[in-house]
Amino acid sequence: MFSKMIAFPTCGFYFVLLFAHVAHGDLSYSFPEEMKRGSIIGNVAKDLGLDRGALSIRRARMEADGTEKRYCDINLNNGELIVAERIDREGLCGEKASCILKHELVLENPLELHLINLHIQDVNDNSPQFKEDLINIEITEMAVRGARFVIEEARDTDVGQNSVQQYSLKNNANFILAADGNTLEIVLEKELDREKQHAIDLLLTALDGGSPQRSGTVVIHVTVLDANDNAPVFSQAVYKASLPENSPPGTVVVTVSASDADKGLNGDVTYDFGHVGDDVKKVFSIDRNVGKIRVIGIVDYETTRSFEIRVKAKDGLGLSSYANVVLAITDVNDNTPVVSLKSLTNPIPEDTAPGTEVGIVNVQDRDSEANRQVRCSIHQNVPFKLVPSLKKYYSLVTTGQLDRELASDYNITITATDEGSPPLSSSKTVQLSVADINDNPPVFEEQSYSAYVTENNKAGSTLCSVTARDPDWRQNGTVIYSLLPGEVNGAPVSSYLSVNGDTGVVHAVRSFDYEQFRSFKVHVMARDNGSPPLSSNVTVSVFVSDVNDNSPQILYPNPEGNSFMTELVPKAAHGGSLVSKVIAVDADSGQNAWLSYHIVKSTDPGLFTIGLHSGEIRTQRDISESDSMKQNLIVSVKDNGQPSLSATCSMYLLISDNLAEVPELKDISYDEKNSKLTSYLIIALVSVSTFFLTFIIIILGVRFCRRRKPRLLFDGAVAIPSAYLPPNYADVDGTGTLRSTYNYDAYLTTGSRTSDFKFVSSYNDNTLPADHTLRKSPSDFADVFGKTEKSLEV
Ligand SMILES: *[C@@H]1O[C@H](CO)[C@@H](O)[C@H](O)[C@H]1NC(C)=O
Repeated sequence: MFSKMIAFPTCGFYFVLLFAHVAHGDLSYSFPEEMKRGSIIGNVAKDLGLDRGALSIRRARMEADGTEKRYCDINLNNGELIVAERIDREGLCGEKASCILKHELVLENPLELHLINLHIQDVNDNSPQFKEDLINIEITEMAVRGARFVIEEARDTDVGQNSVQQYSLKNNANFILAADGNTLEIVLEKELDREKQHAIDLLLTALDGGSPQRSGTVVIHVTVLDANDNAPVFSQAVYKASLPENSPPGTVVVTVSASDADKGLNGDVTYDFGHVGDDVKKVFSIDRNVGKIRVIGIVDYETTRSFEIRVKAKDGLGLSSYANVVLAITDVNDNTPVVSLKSLTNPIPEDTAPGTEVGIVNVQDRDSEANRQVRCSIHQNVPFKLVPSLKKYYSLVTTGQLDRELASDYNITITATDEGSPPLSSSKTVQLSVADINDNPPVFEEQSYSAYVTENNKAGSTLCSVTARDPDWRQNGTVIYSLLPGEVNGAPVSSYLSVNGDTGVVHAVRSFDYEQFRSFKVHVMARDNGSPPLSSNVTVSVFVSDVNDNSPQILYPNPEGNSFMTELVPKAAHGGSLVSKVIAVDADSGQNAWLSYHIVKSTDPGLFTIGLHSGEIRTQRDISESDSMKQNLIVSVKDNGQPSLSATCSMYLLISDNLAEVPELKDISYDEKNSKLTSYLIIALVSVSTFFLTFIIIILGVRFCRRRKPRLLFDGAVAIPSAYLPPNYADVDGTGTLRSTYNYDAYLTTGSRTSDFKFVSSYNDNTLPADHTLRKSPSDFADVFGKTEKSLEV
């Protein structure tokens, strides 16, 4: 069908081939398509031999065969067949090689039919045409040389030479045209490379054989399909980055990138870790699509200081390549120093010397560089300090004397601070106890203790309580009381007092007699239970106070009621003359021994008076002749105690100048019933010997007083016969002298208070306060007599 070139005469519209067919009146005309309306095809009348004038008479007309459209008409005037409608061969006959339109010429009167065949001839009025303007073909770049690709041919509705006769392909680098029989193909002459040229447009032209020649073109768009012929390539072989530890999850560490020259899936690079350990996978993730490596876990410099991460880039069809990421982790001051106690002496004795090491402290910081440089200190006011020892070790050393009684335990806070920025610090509290040493003796609460007890107390009665404190601990501070051995009045102290060892309560062991001693001192010791024990002593002074338990004792005259004792009163005695004196003593003291004298009964009440306190009996008026020679007085002596005690005596007075005048003494006797001469004789003898003894006493007394000053003698001029002294007032050694200071003291109280005072102030060199006069311990007077036989001092 195709030929290189189909020769076709250029007949055009004006080249009309006329063939007259007369037989059976048939006519055939051949003429080109697409003639203008009115164009003359031929002269039917002439060709049929018809009379031109008769055409209209015979109502000549053209009719199409069947329902076909009438394409030509007859000109009734001259019989010419003319084109009535546009005649498109391709429209009427398509691609049929011959195209004949059948028409009839109808004549009436008589009816004649003439068949007229119109042979429509092709005119090259159509160009070759491809189905589309653009043909897309995809060819993989892997296609080999010689590969053929069929192209749909072009069509030309014209026929014959006017149809497609020839194709041509515009010059290109890769393809040539191959028209082989019925197939039109392009053949790959040179292999494709998508990476150089991913598409090629080929211009294919189809030519017909008409004249003029017509052509149609199509663009063949060749898309070069990628083949995965390129692996991804990382931009760097090694990526280096640094990352501070503790970077939060999500932090981008580094972005790796790889490019792949391939296209689409083949160039679609995805990223992943290569062969890495779990440690990396726990901490980092890689974004598959963009290659960002991010933190997902905990980055800890102290665990891992660097990471080497193998990363892989892979394209869609599995070509891959690798790179390394070297990641250095930088330190952040995130570890607080840790203080630990390596050793500790606890408790430490309070006598530990300053400078003694009591513990060892270690500090650690897991950070590095400056972040691990740690300083350790104690910020408290405690007697301890830290002394740097070996690297990271410190000694805890005492700096001062410890005293458990002031501070028994310490909480030492050791603070460690590193040099990071900001610095971190931590602290540790060390509890340290101070152990007791028995370094405190018990101390009494008072400098000394005084106990006051009235005499005649019950044995076992409580006198006082002593207390000592010891701040030491437990047995070092347990106080035990005891009496220090000693003597009181020659007897061991324990026979006077006892002290409760636990409570310090002092008890009397026996009843005290003020008249025997008025005070004494004992020493109480408080001792702790330490080892060795410490102790201290205190003096307990016991003062016995007086009770009026002694009645006055009348020394003179003899209270036994012996009526042989008489006093002579000179007849010439004037009023106020001293006649005699009642001498009484009271073993008590103070008010209890302050005696007063009263005449309770007398023969002549107006004649004699008695000194209330002196006991001196004086005449109240001059003696007259009318006065009875024998006078009798009953004197009562009372002390001032509560209640007061008293004693009475009788005093016989004889108003006479001469003893010879004395009538029978029997008469003087007040109530003598059995007077006998022998009695008088005895009385006389006794009186004489009594005076004699008295005289001797006085002599001895005078001598004694001369030898020792201050001198002391009896108050007044009345001698006291020693025989009248009560037993406990007389010395038991039988000398008959008044040696007992106690006795002397008792005697003093018989006089007036003023005379007592005078005595003391004038005879005692050691001046004493007035109110001590009577209370002073008898020992104070001991030197007066040169003896201390009855010292009460313990
Ligand atoms: C030391 O701490 C302990 C317990 O925290 C406390 O009972 C004690 O009183 C403290 N001692 C001192 C001296 O602060």
